[in-house]
Amino acid sequence: METFTTKKFNMPTLSGISMKSVEEHLKLYNGYVTNANLILSKMAEYGVDAEKNNYILSELQRRFSFEFDGMRNHEYYFASLEGGPKEINKESPLCISICKDFGSFETFLVLFKRLAMTRGVGWAILYYDKMTDNLLTTWVDEHHLGQLTGLSPVLCLDMWEHAFVADYMPSGKKQYVEDFFKNLNWSVIEKNFK
Ligand SMILES: [Fe+2]
Repeated sequence: METFTTKKFNMPTLSGISMKSVEEHLKLYNGYVTNANLILSKMAEYGVDAEKNNYILSELQRRFSFEFDGMRNHEYYFASLEGGPKEINKESPLCISICKDFGSFETFLVLFKRLAMTRGVGWAILYYDKMTDNLLTTWVDEHHLGQLTGLSPVLCLDMWEHAFVADYMPSGKKQYVEDFFKNLNWSVIEKNFK
């Protein structure tokens, strides 16, 4: 039995991002689910003789966070576009916390969009840290390098080129970020925060 299952997303028509591109992207997501399961099954298989397979087990374990976070980040990303665009509720606990931690909602948007333009492939992520009751942003290289321990993802923006190049060309990265926010269903993000 497989530990992780591929989630289904009810993707609406998006502005700027084509359905073809979304379909291809969902196939990539499926690959992360498959490989996260594969690593678990291989570790069980090689774990029968852990001493003999020590090196293989170490390398499988090293790659697990790449596949797992690749799976999970995409689940946040696609879910945040389901249901179509919806503006943030300015009275919501999320918006109140954003204003507390970033000065204003508009300032947060400027900062997060700048974060998304970080060179290289990875993710712009907004997290909630329950230990300090703060929202924090970070850049995650690939899917896993730079994740913040113990924090809950609230908003995950895919900045791998596969997310936008087919529709925007590499030079259209900035427009992709703008369109992501045009397409974003903030009610999902409010729920993540809750
Ligand atoms: Fe992706």
